[in-house]
Amino acid sequence: MISQRTLIIGANSSIAKAIALTIQATENTGLILIRRDTTSNVSSNVINENSSLNSTNDEHLVFHDKEIIVKDYQSESIEVAIKQITIEDYPPITRVFICNGILHSNDIYPEKRIEEFDVEAFQQVMTANALTPMLWIQKLIPLLTGKSPCKMVVFSARVGSISDNRLGGWYSYRASKAALNMMIKTASIELARRAKNIKLIAFHPGTTDTPLSKPFHKNVPAGKLFTCEYVAKQLLTIVEETPVDQTASYLGWNGETINW
Ligand SMILES: NC(=O)c1ccc[n+]([C@@H]2O[C@H](COP(=O)([O-])OP(=O)(O)OC[C@H]3O[C@@H](n4cnc5c(N)ncnc54)[C@H](OP(=O)(O)O)[C@@H]3O)[C@@H](O)[C@H]2O)c1
Repeated sequence: MISQRTLIIGANSSIAKAIALTIQATENTGLILIRRDTTSNVSSNVINENSSLNSTNDEHLVFHDKEIIVKDYQSESIEVAIKQITIEDYPPITRVFICNGILHSNDIYPEKRIEEFDVEAFQQVMTANALTPMLWIQKLIPLLTGKSPCKMVVFSARVGSISDNRLGGWYSYRASKAALNMMIKTASIELARRAKNIKLIAFHPGTTDTPLSKPFHKNVPAGKLFTCEYVAKQLLTIVEETPVDQTASYLGWNGETINW
């Protein structure tokens, strides 16, 4: 029997996959994974019970696990997904990891100079990095408010810290993570009144070996490019050790507080 469930949103993320695999290997916890189908067009949400953890088929969900493949991250798809995990008498969700974030794509590259700033790219980055996590938080709160403590981790980045910005550049990505941080901080003030059981954590994983950081690996000092497995273990320990204290925390991979 499981006594708690963990929700991982943006489960195609390399770090998200490492979190899921670490939890499966070390805990008896129900896992719910939510991700988009990036290979074909799904017209509505697809639920896989006890199926493969990802399309590479290399690991398997255990009996109490569930995967929801969403069409997109619009409000409607998020609401449908939340209905699909709102099952009465199921163990409470005690941890949420919102892993979504983009830095570059076929059409987007982080700006080095102000001339490279582009309206379309800015809107896409803001939508993926700030709006999408905010919508999940907004729509999950009714499900998570209750007696059981619940820790919600949202993947931010150190470059979202306004006080730490010494290098400049990356206008859209920085702005999106700063906006995300502000929303986390603002939500924590409201939740301290309305949902004292929910703890919000903005997390900076450090430079981690994933498709997101790949174009920048040559700039990373030796020993500073982390594996996803390392970051997942660090994060799970941090979540375990961080108290539910009605305030938002902005924490790095080593557990240290980052200035907002
Ligand atoms: N890797 C690093 O060095 C590093 C450093 C600092 C912060 N971070 C942050 O860590 C988080 C995880 O990143 P990662 O390195 O694991 O990257 P990744 O493997 O490239 O994963 C990308 C993530 O972004 C989501 N995503 C992609 N396009 C999206 C869109 N248009 N709208 C909404 N979501 C979209 C994906 O969701 P689906 O699962 O639905 O595909 C997936 O969760 C991100 O928030 C990133 O900003 C990473």
